Amino acid sequence: MERLKGLILSGGEGTRLRPITHTSAKQLVPVANKPVLFYGIEALVEAGVTEIGIIIAPVTGGEIREAVGDGSQFGAEVTFIEQAEPKGLAHAVLTAEEFLDGSPFAMYLGDNLLRNGLSRLVETFKRESPDALILLTPVDDPSSYGVAELDDDRVVRLVEKPKDPPSDLALVGVYLFSPAILEAARGLEPSWRGELEITEAIQDLIDQGLQVRSEVVEGWWKDTGQLADMLEANRLVLEEIRSSVEGDIQDTRIEGRVIVEPGAVLRGSVVRGPAVIGRGAVIEDSYLGPYTSVGADVEIRRSEVEHSIILAGAKVEDLGTRMEASLLGRGVKVTRTEGLPRTLKLLVGDRSEIEIV
Ligand code: DAU
Repeated sequence: MERLKGLILSGGEGTRLRPITHTSAKQLVPVANKPVLFYGIEALVEAGVTEIGIIIAPVTGGEIREAVGDGSQFGAEVTFIEQAEPKGLAHAVLTAEEFLDGSPFAMYLGDNLLRNGLSRLVETFKRESPDALILLTPVDDPSSYGVAELDDDRVVRLVEKPKDPPSDLALVGVYLFSPAILEAARGLEPSWRGELEITEAIQDLIDQGLQVRSEVVEGWWKDTGQLADMLEANRLVLEEIRSSVEGDIQDTRIEGRVIVEPGAVLRGSVVRGPAVIGRGAVIEDSYLGPYTSVGADVEIRRSEVEHSIILAGAKVEDLGTRMEASLLGRGVKVTRTEGLPRTLKLLVGDRSEIEIV
């Protein structure tokens, strides 16, 4: 088989991660201080797929171009493809037609994280040359995904976000395709949610009697489209880090596996891993608990934070209560001041969520 190309879908609107995604691409939200999208690029390169097209949206595309560059930092050659509107995954494939140029390709949803990468999957695809190879995994809420119905291990039917799921096997956001998928995508009509669904294009391959193979994922998989999943992905990735402490540590107890990047300062604090603390961050008189990712130049003082993702430049001071299961955007400030009246003073962006206990 000729070389596979890679296609990463990083357009879309990210409605479920607002307000973070009002100003930033959801695929750039960091998991263990690395943008989700980078895990996808690295997984493709590791599987030998280095010619990669990235679908971007007009608003968030600039930021993605800037973060990824020409791809050489990953050993890849990246082409950006702008999709004017998020009209669906199959629409994204059609938008990439010129880049794909008749090659078979691996498609990777830019907000997905796959523990074991895709090397084995790419090998199977090359060896058996089906028209599509899809990945499945059992989930608790199949109605939120594309769902497969199998007969033994043959895929007989695929449905997108079914009200009445035929099984609990969800389509994972990694697919391998022969060029036949383009023809199938061209024949689609928009679904009930107004999108050209890749799930329906694969169903069309099945209907044509073409070969659609499936494999069940080994290791974990996460779609990071929502806060709870993002935090869970962060937990899973941190679970596997190795300690490396390079910052300036003063009078601070570090327990478990913790990464402290160069230039971070920890003073009078307790850090219980797994956790990662980014470049230039300052942690003072605070407790950082397990599963916390602290971005570059974040400042945390006299506060307790656990199981959270804090993006670059945010500031947390004098909280007085422990913060957990939280995602703070770039430059966010959360502080407590003394004095009366004891009120809340908020300056909060559209669609932010605040829970006070
Ligand atoms: O995560 C797995 C699920 O991904 C599958 O089970 C579903 O079958 C599949 O349709 C897809 O569902 P989602 O509704 O979660 O897809 P989402 O809209 O989140 O888009 C996935 C990625 O593709 C995301 O990085 C944004 C990007 N995208 C999306 C659309 C609709 C584009 O680049 N262009 C688009 O037009």
